[in-house]
Amino acid sequence: MGIMRLGGVKIRCLDLQASVDYYTKVIGFEVTGQDKDGNVYLKGWDEFDHHSLTLTPSNRAGLEHISLKVQSPDDLVFYRNKLEGAGVKVETLPAGSEMGMGEALWFEDPGGHWVKMYAEMEQVGTKVGALNPDPWPPGLQGIGAPRLDHILLAAEDAQKSTDFYMHLLDFWMSERLVTKNGDLIAAWLFRTNTVHDIAIIAGPQGKMHHFSFLLDDWNEIRKAADVIAMNDVKIDIGPTRHGISRGLTIYFFDPSGNRNETFAGGYMPFPDSPVITWTEDEIGRGIFFFQRELNEAFTTVFT
Ligand SMILES: [Fe+2]
Repeated sequence: MGIMRLGGVKIRCLDLQASVDYYTKVIGFEVTGQDKDGNVYLKGWDEFDHHSLTLTPSNRAGLEHISLKVQSPDDLVFYRNKLEGAGVKVETLPAGSEMGMGEALWFEDPGGHWVKMYAEMEQVGTKVGALNPDPWPPGLQGIGAPRLDHILLAAEDAQKSTDFYMHLLDFWMSERLVTKNGDLIAAWLFRTNTVHDIAIIAGPQGKMHHFSFLLDDWNEIRKAADVIAMNDVKIDIGPTRHGISRGLTIYFFDPSGNRNETFAGGYMPFPDSPVITWTEDEIGRGIFFFQRELNEAFTTVFT
């Protein structure tokens, strides 16, 4: 089976308590643990695993690493061999490098992002359970996001990073944005049946553009906008719709300036679906279908 999903992200926070308050009271995630190094672990109400979001205290914002969950320990052996065969340096992290996590592989992608690949994590269950569940649990806070959805990574050489995820980690491409000469500006890549689990855009090496939480539909996006406004959270843009992915979206910033997104909708791609191509002259419509132009913050703020 290989990689099942984007299992998690570890995010640097300037003020840990302010970030914990934000991700619990505004996003609606719940804290599942804190380790001796001060890392705080959180999950959405519909996620079974121990955590999908790790907050770590730091003097700068940004992404510490992404985590990819594979189906079995055999997949770790498979990908170690595949990565090392391509000349990628792979370290092994013992079980417990994160709370509840089994042994993991640790390597850097060509865009300068660190990747942790793991097969096992303690399952703590969801708020509605796995037996005759209600559609959502009572007592959700803020937006009440059920789970982490995807991340957009910046890389100086978007083509090289995209090749890495497609050829070495077996991602498929749903959509791409290209220059008039056909050079890749951005790629939307998937392992699940959503338009993207990871997207890559040409930009500053090692940086993150945003990571995103899944919501059901437009009503949930509207409610999220209310919650964001009621909590005086800085909005980047939205609510609006993407041409690329057809997703419904809001972009906004966490207390450290890391960009978050709530994402709903989109369509279901398959590995054999033709790649949808967007050309640079249509970038406004592709990114923000209603506004048809990019706002300045969206193209300049990376953490
Ligand atoms: Fe996104």
